[in-house]
Amino acid sequence: MKVNVILEGSLRGPCESTVVVVDVLRATSSAVTAFANGLTQLEVVESVEEARRMKRENSELLIAGERRGLKPNGFDLGNSPCEFTENEVKGKKLVMTTSNGTRAIKRFLGNRVVYLAALLNYRFVARSIVESGEGTTIVCAGTDGVPCLEDVFCAGSIVKELMCEGYRIDDAARIAYSTYSTYEFDIERMLKKESSHGAYLERIGLGEDLVYCARMNIHDVTPFSQGKRFVLH
Ligand code: MLT
Repeated sequence: MKVNVILEGSLRGPCESTVVVVDVLRATSSAVTAFANGLTQLEVVESVEEARRMKRENSELLIAGERRGLKPNGFDLGNSPCEFTENEVKGKKLVMTTSNGTRAIKRFLGNRVVYLAALLNYRFVARSIVESGEGTTIVCAGTDGVPCLEDVFCAGSIVKELMCEGYRIDDAARIAYSTYSTYEFDIERMLKKESSHGAYLERIGLGEDLVYCARMNIHDVTPFSQGKRFVLH
């Protein structure tokens, strides 16, 4: 079995039959938290306008996301994972649009299964992949066409789990694994001081999100795609 890594979401690379999309800061961290708190379904869309239109057609939908890190006008929630509390999301359906994470997800949705991973749930995702018996491609969302340290780190944490199960890795997976080995004992500092998107979030007053997104395996959930929607494994 093989695991390969695409270091930034718009890059091309060989694609295995399952895909894992990672956007630690913050789209997949928010999605994972929402499912852990009782969300029943997630759909991702390209634009703010499309999310608003869906809300007009069905007022029971929650719409969430960000542009430049901040909640767009008229949205129910932004993209801070801590907003996705049980009170907000339990039993609800969510539509999400973010600058990079949901775009990477959309790009890989199709006739393959897509899993959503963050540091918050990476070990559970790795376990689901092993149980699927398939090879996998881990896609790091990145920011505006550039790879992100925190996504590559998270990809490396999944690669490590799969290597222990005997998966073969490509060069990009090796880069991800080395990144993981460099920062595994220093995650919060990496997000705050070395990740450029982390530094941006800190500057706009969202530093608390970094502390939360640095937590590992606190949510025992693996969101995965069924057609164009996400549900729980
Ligand atoms: C993105 O999709 O670019 C991110 O999730 C942005 C963010 O909200 O930090």
